[in-house]
Amino acid sequence: MALPGAAHATTKPEITLRFSHVVAGETPKGLAANRFKVLVEQRSGGRIGVQVFPNARLYGDHDEMQALQLGAVDLVAPSLSKFGRIGLPEFEMFDLPFLFDDLSAVRRITLGPLGQKLLNGLPRQGLVGLGFFDNGFKQMSANRALLEPGDFVGLRMRVQASRVIAAQMRALGARPVTLAFSETRRALATGVVDGTENPVSNFWTQNMHEVQSDLSLTEHGYLGYAVVTNQRFWQHLQAADRDLINQAMQESLAFANQIADTQNDQALQALRQAGTTHIHSLTAAQRVRLRQAVQPVQQQLTQRIGERWMADLRLALRKL
Ligand code: SIN
Repeated sequence: MALPGAAHATTKPEITLRFSHVVAGETPKGLAANRFKVLVEQRSGGRIGVQVFPNARLYGDHDEMQALQLGAVDLVAPSLSKFGRIGLPEFEMFDLPFLFDDLSAVRRITLGPLGQKLLNGLPRQGLVGLGFFDNGFKQMSANRALLEPGDFVGLRMRVQASRVIAAQMRALGARPVTLAFSETRRALATGVVDGTENPVSNFWTQNMHEVQSDLSLTEHGYLGYAVVTNQRFWQHLQAADRDLINQAMQESLAFANQIADTQNDQALQALRQAGTTHIHSLTAAQRVRLRQAVQPVQQQLTQRIGERWMADLRLALRKL
């Protein structure tokens, strides 16, 4: 938080929030961050300003959490896959392949008691969670179609820093390579990795279609986010400012959830029009075979996520 001093000019905000994220402005996260900025600035009459830094311009996957803990930024919205490495492996439950049948199943977690329990763990790391929101379901890309487990064998697949996602790639016979999001396109272009997974909005806005000849619509996993802030910063805000910021954030997250599907549909349409990349749909039987291949991951990673968390998850999804 930047506090420019008592004798500030009327046009200058008294408080400036810095919101850093790693994706493009035209993604669900980018648009939600921009909406948040508009709401906060309007409702505070310009007294509270918001600076949004997209595309890892300020901090990337390697350092954004630390920057938040140190107070160098005020808000970040990492994917749920990136909380495991700061000592919160239970967040990796969202990465379990083929866990959610649809977004309403995701909501049972993120808007229910289990989601709240996950957020309640964040103060352990000096953080406060303001809420969850979606990007959507992930697809697989490479320079070949990825329709059957055998298609993955031997490929180096870029993954986020999540042991669950790494195990998923291993179960398919691929080699997981953990890389920051901002490094992914270049790694694909130079052949450091052969393929990756992401919802189409991320694939398209990072121009990954220029360096990947095939996108397979596997919808095998979910990508979502939690918005987090620094606990000390949050507690030191005036209660009225905290309420204003929180209300604007809740509306921005609801907005992101409304537009996420459309953003991914529009990105897919743009990708089809660009004509650079073969887009493959899976048959029901192919999807079943992929699902069977990654089934052991749930058992293998139960210990990492935690038995109790897994029991709560199954209960919330009525998969007991
Ligand atoms: C993001 O959507 O924030 C990035 C996801 C990734 O690292 O693949």
